[in-house]
Amino acid sequence: MTFVTFEGIDGAGKSSHLAAAEQWLRGRGVTVRVTREPGGTELAEALRALFLHHEMDALTEMLLVFAARRDHLRRLIEPALARGETVLCDRYTDATYAYQVAGRGFDAATFEQLAGWVQQGREPDLTLWFDVPAAVAAQRRAQARSADRLEAEDLAFFERVGAGYAERAARAPGRILRIDGNRPAAEVEADVLRTLGERL
Ligand code: TYD
Repeated sequence: MTFVTFEGIDGAGKSSHLAAAEQWLRGRGVTVRVTREPGGTELAEALRALFLHHEMDALTEMLLVFAARRDHLRRLIEPALARGETVLCDRYTDATYAYQVAGRGFDAATFEQLAGWVQQGREPDLTLWFDVPAAVAAQRRAQARSADRLEAEDLAFFERVGAGYAERAARAPGRILRIDGNRPAAEVEADVLRTLGERL
């Protein structure tokens, strides 16, 4: 059983690399469960829609993402891991640190406490962090899609979020692997698949 998470600022490319990882693992006979946060269950997807489309303060954001995570862990992630499946999750708690603590300035001690209650120690076995400069990610987003509530934040916000990911990676170097996402997609993808081959 393996729990792998994909992280990075909006526009870093994590979602396309997650899809490539899924295909590659399935091709090797691995039973893969793909999911995302906030989301992954009916309740958590409903919370995601509220989270993405309503104005709220940083504590409310934090409570919503952790409520969604709690349901997701209990109903989807833990049962899948218990069945021996490999779970690939688009974002998890590193995103909460990066966006709500580093990005919004929410209190880190309260974040740690909520994470402890909600996760009961469940950490990813491996986290791939796609590191891309905030300006590059903004350019990619402008070409690719219309912005949701968080994507509408300014460059300085995404610089703080990126710095938040860097802090998390420095504190958990064995779990979080930095992947330079500011390269042609095929090069990044080759790195992702090589890393999965080595680590899983
Ligand atoms: P994202 O995963 O990037 O999905 P999409 O590719 O459809 O845009 O969007 C989720 C948004 O939620 C993203 O802007 C980051 C934000 N987010 C947080 O702020 N905190 C969290 O804990 C999580 C999981 C996501």
